[in-house]
Amino acid sequence: MCGIIAHVGADRALGPLVTGLEKLEYRGYDSAGVAVKNGNGLDVWKCSGQVSELKDTIDTVESSATLGIGHTRWSTHGPPSDENAHPHTDESDRVAVVHNGIIENYESIKQILLSEGYEFTSDTDTEVIPNLIAYYLDRGNEPLAAFKHTVTDLEGSYAIAVVVDENDSIFAARQGSPLVLGVEEDGYYLASDVPAFLDYTDTVVYLEDGDTVEVRTDGVDIVDENDEHVQREVQEVDWQPDETGKGQYDHFMLKEIHTQPTSLQKTIEGRIDADEHVTDLDVDLDLTGIDTVHLVGCGTSYHAALFGSGILNRCDVSARAIRASEYDVNTGTPPENTLFVAVTQSGETADTLQALRQANDVGASTLAVTNVVQSTVAREADEPLYIRAGPEIGVAATKTFSSQAVMLTMLSQHIARVNETATRVNNVGQLLSDLRALPSAVDRILQSSDAADLAQEHLDKSAYFFIGRGLGCSVAKEGALKFKEITYEHAEGFASGELKHGPLALVTDRTPVFAVCADDCDKTVTNAKEAQTRGAPIVAVSPPNHKIVDTADAHLSVPDMHPVCSNLLANVQLQLLSYYCATELDRAIDKPRNLAKSVTVE
Ligand code: F6R
Repeated sequence: MCGIIAHVGADRALGPLVTGLEKLEYRGYDSAGVAVKNGNGLDVWKCSGQVSELKDTIDTVESSATLGIGHTRWSTHGPPSDENAHPHTDESDRVAVVHNGIIENYESIKQILLSEGYEFTSDTDTEVIPNLIAYYLDRGNEPLAAFKHTVTDLEGSYAIAVVVDENDSIFAARQGSPLVLGVEEDGYYLASDVPAFLDYTDTVVYLEDGDTVEVRTDGVDIVDENDEHVQREVQEVDWQPDETGKGQYDHFMLKEIHTQPTSLQKTIEGRIDADEHVTDLDVDLDLTGIDTVHLVGCGTSYHAALFGSGILNRCDVSARAIRASEYDVNTGTPPENTLFVAVTQSGETADTLQALRQANDVGASTLAVTNVVQSTVAREADEPLYIRAGPEIGVAATKTFSSQAVMLTMLSQHIARVNETATRVNNVGQLLSDLRALPSAVDRILQSSDAADLAQEHLDKSAYFFIGRGLGCSVAKEGALKFKEITYEHAEGFASGELKHGPLALVTDRTPVFAVCADDCDKTVTNAKEAQTRGAPIVAVSPPNHKIVDTADAHLSVPDMHPVCSNLLANVQLQLLSYYCATELDRAIDKPRNLAKSVTVE
């Protein structure tokens, strides 16, 4: 969604603000802007387009301002335009505001302000905030009081940061959208996410919903929802600044695909013991007596949930993967003894959060499988299970899918063990030892993959189909999502057996079919042949000795491991395929059109 950054310190603010926006651009990239406080008032620069376009302007500016705010936008109210870009100001440019979230009652506030003579120039909900602050200033309130009155009037979800020309503070508030404070020796940052300021500090304070904050160079005042002054815990994050840069890679996505050996290692670390048992995962939640598991997520995280539900079902634990946006309509009240598992990289996705709240309301036990420490979902679930994949900047999720799937695999073994189910996952010992070997197997694929060559051969087709059975079906669906997301080509993932029930009508010699065969799925071989008979080129994604290799026209090879691991390796091959096709097509790989990471609207 949108990203916000604010900085006050001893040094010039513009540099850190623009760096912060570059790091936050994964949250939205249709317009950007900054506002700083100069000696006489506020300077605002903003434009539609990416942060690089804003930077071209800012680079020509000489500003010694040490206090400012910035924003990168994914539009909700009003199309991308210079007018709709943040920061928004009141008519006389006394107040500038950046905002992430939705102000639900903006129309009624706007009507009141219009009737009082305040003027509006944008289509956004945000513009009511500077005007409302101006309204309270005009009625004799001090800046802090004007800000607090305004926050009290707002309904919806927001993280906002505000500068007022007559004051040396940044005012900020958090309600339902993330906001984290970065602490330096001689200054502070406020941002939607830690990577925004990780180049400068790794000391952070996670703000809570209902907090309002005044940040000055010499200190911070935090007031909670009960209007009490509070101290929040100061923490060190274990993400490194180089994790938020592209390093030697052309794109974040390629870097993140290539860091999977390390991220998987971290996911697994300390969670499988020397005797090949999953530990208790540090989950302070009694999982005995669980009758049903609901795994809930969106997009790629939903595919990880699908993968996890397949493994749980094989352990005789009744599990369903449910799309978070469909949770209320398709699930009804979760039955007693349901474990609800929110699967979400960002921990912020509004659909997933809403489903979690529903489960919490009926007293289900809830877990969050997430990458972002202290994210909203992590806090609202009974217990977080962090996947420890490190920051993921590319909008297309890659390493976090692998880590989520591995985390859910370990969770399934933990649940099966504490409930003493008659596990049907073949050879659990082999599974756990292969999971430990997974990072090096991913590395082997990264060294030897033919995906780049294959991509060259499969450009300019009319559609791309991905098929698989069981766990392979979730991999096929994920492969198709990744492909369409970054190549803009039509791609669909199907259960192999479903092909003949309709989609086969679309199959021609211009629709390659990628068949994920990472386990003994003879039926997928038959289904692939059905497509091949209709002219479709078949690409097998399988271990080298799999039967499908004799049928297929091309092959992406994966090491022959436990099927859970071979399926995850097949997914790595498909990640590379999508990446190289998108590169050939010259797509905006890290920032695909119309998308953003962390979708905080339902
Ligand atoms: C696709 C992708 C999205 C996200 C989805 C959920 O590559 O990244 O489909 O998976 O928006 O996001 P999280 O996992 O943050 O809840």
